[in-house]
Parts: sequence; structure tokens; C-alpha cells
Amino acid sequence: MKGTTYLNLSRLGWRHLVVVILFTLNLLTTAAPVSGPVRERISFNSDWRFTKGDPPGTGDGLNYTNIKPWMMATGNEFVADGKPATRPSGNPGEDAAYTQPGYDDSAWRQLNLPHDWGIEGPFKQEASGSTGKLPWEGVGWYRKHFTVPASDKDRRLCLAVDGAMSYANVWFNGQYVGGWPYGYSSWELDLTPYVKGGAENVLALRLDNPPNSSRWYPGGGIYRNVWLVKTGPVHVEHWGTYVTTPEIKPSAATVKIQVAVENDTDAAATVSLKNEVYELGTDNTKGESIASTTTDGVQIASHKNQSSETEMTLKNPRLWSLEKPQRYVVVTSIEQNGKQLDHYETPFGIRTIQFDANQGFFLNGKHVRLNGVCDHADLGALGTAINARALERQIEILQEMGCNAIRTSHNPPAPELLDLCDRMGMLVMDESFDCWQRGKRPNDYHLLFDDWHEKDWRAELRRDRNHPGIILWSIGNEVPDQGTPAGPQIAAELSRIAHEEDPTRPTTAACDHPASGFNGFQTNLDVFGYNYKPFLYAKVHQANPGLPIFGSETASCISSRGEYFYPVSTNKNDGKSGYQMSSYDLSAPPWATIPDTEFKGQDENPFVAGEFVWTGFDYLGEPTPYDAYNDPARSSYFGIVDLAGFKKDRFYLYQARWRPDLPMAHIVPQCWNWPDRARQTTPVFVYTSGDAAELFLNGKSLGRKTRGQYEYRLCWNDVKYEPGRLKAVAYKNGKPWAADMVQTAGPATKLALQPDRKKIHVDGEDLSFVTLAVEDKNGLPVSRAANSIHFEISGPGEIAATDNGDPTDLVSFPSHDRKAFNGLCLAIIRSKTGQSGTIKLTATSDGMKTTSVSIQAR
Ligand code: GAL
Repeated sequence: MKGTTYLNLSRLGWRHLVVVILFTLNLLTTAAPVSGPVRERISFNSDWRFTKGDPPGTGDGLNYTNIKPWMMATGNEFVADGKPATRPSGNPGEDAAYTQPGYDDSAWRQLNLPHDWGIEGPFKQEASGSTGKLPWEGVGWYRKHFTVPASDKDRRLCLAVDGAMSYANVWFNGQYVGGWPYGYSSWELDLTPYVKGGAENVLALRLDNPPNSSRWYPGGGIYRNVWLVKTGPVHVEHWGTYVTTPEIKPSAATVKIQVAVENDTDAAATVSLKNEVYELGTDNTKGESIASTTTDGVQIASHKNQSSETEMTLKNPRLWSLEKPQRYVVVTSIEQNGKQLDHYETPFGIRTIQFDANQGFFLNGKHVRLNGVCDHADLGALGTAINARALERQIEILQEMGCNAIRTSHNPPAPELLDLCDRMGMLVMDESFDCWQRGKRPNDYHLLFDDWHEKDWRAELRRDRNHPGIILWSIGNEVPDQGTPAGPQIAAELSRIAHEEDPTRPTTAACDHPASGFNGFQTNLDVFGYNYKPFLYAKVHQANPGLPIFGSETASCISSRGEYFYPVSTNKNDGKSGYQMSSYDLSAPPWATIPDTEFKGQDENPFVAGEFVWTGFDYLGEPTPYDAYNDPARSSYFGIVDLAGFKKDRFYLYQARWRPDLPMAHIVPQCWNWPDRARQTTPVFVYTSGDAAELFLNGKSLGRKTRGQYEYRLCWNDVKYEPGRLKAVAYKNGKPWAADMVQTAGPATKLALQPDRKKIHVDGEDLSFVTLAVEDKNGLPVSRAANSIHFEISGPGEIAATDNGDPTDLVSFPSHDRKAFNGLCLAIIRSKTGQSGTIKLTATSDGMKTTSVSIQAR
């Protein structure tokens, strides 16, 4: 089958229009003398030098309100063409010592990326808890020395940065190359003009985090992966492929492939484009080639881009679904006179998505309720430094709960998250901004919005649009512009851009303004996302009968794992004590609700497509309600799972609802050690996927309760505490279904270590999360234990961080000393590059038996 080559104007941007005109005028047809080996994408993470602050005497600080002329000088369309890079006043110029190749940086700290300069701390009690009391603000410089072989002479070298926080500026061999301010965007810089072949090259990168520029802990530094991309001069453009599946039938699917080719040579090029489709395994291995097509005679004018489109048919396609997330990969090859010029791989999936205003969401024609969570980008004690295993563990924990969707609140995520969601069968609501023209903090994104929103948004859309997991493009979260006259126009523009880049997915926004469902703002969205408004779903639906609707941010229940305060109150403003929140799951801030209220709102309004709970995991910063400056808290209480990855009680409330076929029961409180509560009222709740449960205290029945309509937990509110065994037996349709038991434990005598993985890879990134539980002599968990633990490690591994899930713990994360918090503690073990062998982790605590566990690195 032969593909057709044509220019799809609706998809092409301003830059391409110029290409089209020039192309038509010149009618260039000659083959260009292109050469060079095919593409390499080399990890550029190792061996950087880092220092905080500007060189003495320079960089007196940026004027953050004067960043309008900030432009990039690179070769792709997310940048201003041909304009020199100009920088805000106060920014060091080429003469700044750190930009100079000859500068002696040997005294700087040597490190590997990804790196978050704030996470090591120390925590500062006097710093704002809303951004985690950690030192993420200010300027940081990174330098890297590397040799470019002389054989790369004819190649194009680009630096691809998945994310750097923030206001990045890059110098290469002393020349300013460009920059990108939004810390959550991925971007690429063309280094080719400045490369010194066969010699040492020096890259210098300056980052700057303004104070008051975030509502949560954003981290600081080159916190995502960095790549050196080498191609020939005729190559697939940055994110230059777009794969869609316009028609899907059981017998066949049409796969449409658009490829944008860039020609960096001084002559026109005529090439063939070969696209070959393979099945892709969960481990990223390719299966047999199953379809292939070649488009000959693709002409690209000198120093221009050319887009070409082809279609092919896949027989008996295997659909991407939550249960079986089958992926395929298109391998694109640019060829000229039998020689390969580029090789580019685009994983994709075949599935249909549909939002219906009356029935919710459908994946491959099957109704799927969105059982989602919102999550921030940090990985707890590891900070924002991206780690694929830490992300994978988060998804595993969420899937155990029955979660099937993640909202990347409130910004473009790490690319690894999207890859994992595709591989593991998770849906994604891919979000862009937390504000538009009106900021939420003095130095927020509103300072960049006018100049940067289109570049940032197109970059996100183009980077992410081949991921089958993504079902929604979110143009913003609770943007204050919802209430301004300009708001609907901005929403319309952002939706238009999304449709231009990807007409296959709907746009949405997470709206909190009560009027946003009625004032016209909503008409610029394909799907309406409402934050914390279960009581308004019906009204919005009535006012907008054709508009699908879902809970884009729900609940915001607050709790500390293992804390239970008495008396138990159902007033959502209660439940506070000693900078902790009670874990009876009855507390929420004034704007929010407990989970049960949202469940009822969803059940009463079955047209609602589902919800995204705030949040799946606790995150650094925003320790509501203890977010006053002098409060000692530094991380959130919103998570269903705590910062260390330990499940809080409401994990089971959601599991009961989201996995109705899983036999489970969970008692609240999980602690039955209350020596000072003898005969006092101690309410007991049971979360179960059954429809009834009977509670027994020391063998005596406290009665059987059946769930009523809109009842999501079974409550025994007047249980009188006595030590011993508290057991719940759950029933479904009259038959025993599941059970749970909590017991009064004796004094703590033992430490138990449980690694989540006993074998890790020696890539210097792989992790084992080791849980330490404090136990009595019979192995019962001592649920309130707060023992001081000391960790030691030997062998080819290191303790990357420790944690315990306590939002008020101000001991810095790399510390090997950590108190248990309500009986649990975590040590995160990381392998060392290329070093195999047995890693031994030992835990000691005064008066307790020393324990150790082995992990194999190989
Ligand atoms: C929402 C906001 C989130 C988070 C949350 C806490 O209004 O969108 O980012 O701040 O409140 O409840």
C-alpha cells in the first residue's frame, strides 16, 4: 500500500504555513547531500556539577514582572523563529563566569540527574508549610563537560529536557542557546551550531525559582530526565509523529500516521518514509511486524519542515483497555537512495473513548466509571526528582484500591508517568495550568501566561497525544479567570489549540466557581469538570443537557494515618489535635466534603462520569488545616495514602466502592490499644464491599448492620472500649464475605522489615521500599508505636531517604534516623550503577532486637 503525501493545514501551525508558501514558490525537487548515522537518544543524566546561587557580583535577581521578551533560539516550532534570545534584566549574560567553558567548576558538587535541590532540606520551621518548609527557592547552576566525537560532525545534536524547575537558561560553550521558563514543560534545544567536534564541550544551565511562585512544593533543579539526541540533518521533527485510529472495528482498525520531517541542510531533500507497526509488550519489547507502508517522494525544502500522512489497516486489532492495555508501536524510517537517515518510534494504542452527557464515560464502547485520583508530581521523601519505580509503585497501590484514572494536577506530568499509565492500564486527565492571566501567588504562571501559554500548551499536547491512556485535556485548574470577562475567551482559545493539535480527545477544566457551569465558561469545554460541587451536578446538567460532566476534584478529606481522636464528631471542621487529623475520615476543609458526600452526589446523579479524589497520595506542601507560618507541618493530610506510601483507613472506603467484587472488610480504628479509654465510647466503623457486617468484641456480638441507600460505611457509634479482639464479619447477599480483626498488642519488642522488592536492578535508579513495622512479642502490630529507629546499610546500595508518613516530622528525608509514626517507618533503598551483590539493611532501636533484611542487586 502506498501512502499519500499531503499537507494537512488544519494541523499545521504558523511555521508550517511559511514552509508551504516557500515550498510552492521554489518547487524544490533536488535530493540533498544528507549524511550521518541514524538517531541516538542518549541519557544525559550522569556526571553534572551543581552549585546554588549566582557567581559573586552577578545575577542580582530577576525582575520577574519583566519577562515579556523572553524568547528561545532553537530550531523547532515551540520557539520564536530566528529571534535572538533576550533575557529579563538582572540575568547574567555570556560574561557571567559560570557560563564560560573555562570556568573551574571542580569544587562544585558532582551529581547525577534527576536532581531536586530542595528535598535534602533541612526543613525550616520558619519557612512556609504551603511549599513544604524546604529550600526550593532561588538560583541554581548546573554544568556538564562532555566530548563530542569528531565523527558527529554532520549530525544534529539537541539537548532534550523533560523538565527543569524553573526559568531555565542554557549556555553551550559560552554561547547563549535558549531557555524555557515553565518548570513543568518538556523542551529541546538545538546545540549543533555551537558544537566542538573532537573536543570537550561545556553546557551551563541556570535555573531560578522565584519566591511565591507555587501553591505547593515544586522542587528545584533539573528534576526530570535529560537526553542528548543525535540525528542526521534530515530527521523526524521533535515530537514529530501523530498516530490516530480513526476507524476501529473488530476485524480491522485504520491507523493514521502523520510524520513531520525537518531538513536542516542547505538543499532540498527527497526521501521515502517507511512506517511499520509492531505489537509492543509490557516490557517494551517488539513483537512481529504486522503492517507496513512506504511513502515515496516526500520533498522537504532546505531548512524547512514537511508533514506527511499515511494510513494503514491493522487486521483483528487488539484494543487497549484497562484490563489488557495492549500497545503497538509505529517505527518510522526516513530513507534516501536506500540509506536510512532516521529511525523514530511512536508507541500508541487502539481504543475508542466517548463522554456521554447522560451516561458518563465509555472506553471501547463499555461504560467505565472514572474512579480517579488527583496527584501532585512529588514522590514524597524522594522529592520531585523523577523515578520510574517510585511512580510505578504509586500506580500499583492505586490499582489495588480500584483506582483507574489519574489527574496530573495541575501541570504537565513527567513523560514516565504517561508511559506507565499506558503500560499498566490507567486513564489520564492531562492538565496544563493552575492559573491563566490571574495568578494565585504573586510570582505565579500569570506572569508568563500571555507570552507562553500557547508554546507550553502545544508542547504538552504534542508530546503527549500518542498516549492511549489520556482521555481528557485539562486546560486549567480553578483558574480565577472563570469569573472574569476574558475567561470564556481564554477557555475557547485553549480548547481550540487542543483541538488543532489533537481533535480526538475532549477538553475540560477543573472548575470551582459556582457560576462556571452557567455563565458561558462551560460552553468552551467539551466536558465539564466540577470541583467539590456534588450538590450542583443536577443543576449544571439541567442547564447544559448536552454537556458531559464529572467530578474533576472531589472530597479533600483530611487525616493522619493511625491517629484517632475522641469524642468522634461528624462536623467536618472537627477532628484536629496536636497538628494531626483524626483518621475517622469525617474531616474536610470548608470548601470540601468527606468521601461519602461525594459518593451520594455521584449515585444520585448517574449521568456524572465519575470523580478524581483530592488526592491519591499525600504530597509536600499544603498542610491544610495547619498551613499557618508557625505551624510545624510540611506535607498534606489530603492523601488516601500517606507520604510514605502507607494506606490510610479511607483507602478501604474507596476500595469497597471501586472494587465491589473483591471480598474485603476494614475496621476503623485500626488501633485497639487504648489503655486510658476503658469503658469509654469508642466508635467503630466498618468499610466493606459487602452489604452488611456483624461486629464482635471479645467474642460478643455488638450487632449486625446492613448498609442503607447512600450509606457507605457501617457505624457502631457507642462501642465501649475494652482491650482484646475486635472482629468484623462482612456479608454479601446473606453469605459471609470478608472479615477483619484488630487486637490489643503488648509492649513493643520487635522490628519487622518488609521490602516491597527483594531484587532490584543495578541501574543506579531502581528502588526497594522497605517497610518497618514495630511489633509485640507475638508479632502483633503496635499501632501507636513511635520508637526511634536507626537504619544502616552495607553492600551495593544506599538509603535514598527515610519517611514515616507524619506530616509534622521535620527531620530531613536523607536521615538514617527516623521515628516510627503510628507503628510504621519506611527506608527507600537505591541500587548503585553497575554494582551487583547483596544489600543488607539493618534497623536498630533502643531496647529492641536488631533486625536486618537482604535485597539482591543484579
Ligand atoms: C483545591 C485546589 C487544589 C488543592 C485543594 C485542597 O481548591 O484545586 O490544588 O489546593 O483545593 O483542598
